[in-house]
Amino acid sequence: MTRKINIFDTTLRDGEQSPGASMNTEEKLVVARQLLRLNVDVIEAGFPISSPGDFESVRRIAELAGDQATVCGLTRAVEKDIDAAADALKYAKRPRIHTGIGVSPSHLRDKLRITEDECVERAVKCVKYARNFVEDVQFYAEDAGRSDYDFLVRVIEAVIKAGATVVNIPDTTGYSLPEEFGARIKYLMDHVDGIEKATVSVHCHNDLGMATALSLAGVKNGATQVECTINGLGERAGNTAMEEVVMGIKMHGDELDACTEINTREFIKASRLVSSITGMNVQANKAIVGANAFAHSSGIHQDGVLKKRDTYEIIDPADVGAGTSQIVLTARSGHAALKHRLEELGYELEGEALDQVYEAFLNLADKKKEVYDEDLESLVNERDRNESALYALEGVQVSTGFPLTPTATVTLRNAADQVVTACEYGTGPIDAVYKAVNKIVQVDNELTEFSVQSVTRGIDALGEVTIRVTAPDGGVYTGRGADNDIIVSSTKAYLNALNRLLNDKQEHRR
Ligand code: KIV
Ligand code: ZN
Repeated sequence: MTRKINIFDTTLRDGEQSPGASMNTEEKLVVARQLLRLNVDVIEAGFPISSPGDFESVRRIAELAGDQATVCGLTRAVEKDIDAAADALKYAKRPRIHTGIGVSPSHLRDKLRITEDECVERAVKCVKYARNFVEDVQFYAEDAGRSDYDFLVRVIEAVIKAGATVVNIPDTTGYSLPEEFGARIKYLMDHVDGIEKATVSVHCHNDLGMATALSLAGVKNGATQVECTINGLGERAGNTAMEEVVMGIKMHGDELDACTEINTREFIKASRLVSSITGMNVQANKAIVGANAFAHSSGIHQDGVLKKRDTYEIIDPADVGAGTSQIVLTARSGHAALKHRLEELGYELEGEALDQVYEAFLNLADKKKEVYDEDLESLVNERDRNESALYALEGVQVSTGFPLTPTATVTLRNAADQVVTACEYGTGPIDAVYKAVNKIVQVDNELTEFSVQSVTRGIDALGEVTIRVTAPDGGVYTGRGADNDIIVSSTKAYLNALNRLLNDKQEHRR
């Protein structure tokens, strides 16, 4: 029988560690719902000890998932971390604690400053401690990709004896070559006493652009769990991209003796959702989910595809949910039609939330003849961003042109329901707007990135602005805003980033 490979999603933990990609609890819940639609086996929902927000996210996602997926919380090999994870997972139907420690010479010598014996002792202790709370304990051997083969065997053997049900072999720094990483997994399969009692997992990073290849090499050599993220989001160059590794397994199931139970038709939707929530744009030539992944531009290729699709296309775009975008609604469409289409897109809105999106939809439909799925997604995300806003935009006006000095007047409503207006000059209209916002909000930051993209085609399309600001402590905050008017989108994006920064400051003060 073909081996089933479990898909362990860590978009909400390792993915969120990507600078500027942090999500609040509500946003994480939206992503978690999409992960359930994808039918992932495990959701790593956060690192509960790291912040009250992470704790709450793990708790609420455990509640949401019920028995549909295992929900996992990360810890270091420290008892107070494990206590926090156990507490966050208290009501989970399928809880898993993910604990572990560094095992490479560099981690032992330079980071942990412990001996190999001390490392094994700590690893065993944390697994045993976690087993007091849950039956499903996953152990990670951090930086396993650069560890000594026989020491790795020793650690993995010891933690399985101590009760680990899953052993995670990460290539934390994305250093390995696929063949070498595959050989490492095979070595463990051949030399660890009791390895058949545990699931072997691979967790690869993309520092050399090989995370997917490394994960597939792991699967080929015995791993039956792959850890990955939507769009390959994650620390530095990111993690293995779920859409790539799952489609790789699907296309090469026979050679790998492997399959997954992922609903691949949800990939494009998942990609757009994560990109929109985190503000991390997907490059056009990204495998599987990039805008050009199924575009054929050269004459020779177009001719081939027209004669027979698979001359140049190895995947049917419909299998990953591509090419399904359609004109959906018009200004004459009612509440029920909007609700229905939003549900098809994966958003479940009721009451006031639905009314707000409906109003925004009518506004847009008045200005724009054709309202696409991407427009609707943008409207929903815009509403979600405003939900947790400490400062909301009441109005913005600019006066600009040649040879005028650009001037902006901005009116905001604060959390105490006060309306405040400020005016400023700037080198350009956006500079003037941002200076006026700064006069009201008064929070130190530096604008480090600014980009604008149209949500759909056409001159009347919504313009989506993505920005990044850096706080004095080095924290990076992403902001997004969408509107037909890009001055308004730019203002909304800036406010979104400042609201995130202020929310984060408040959370750390608690
Ligand atoms: O990359 C890594 O080693 C990790 C572990 C915490 C699993 O993310
Ligand atoms: Zn990682």
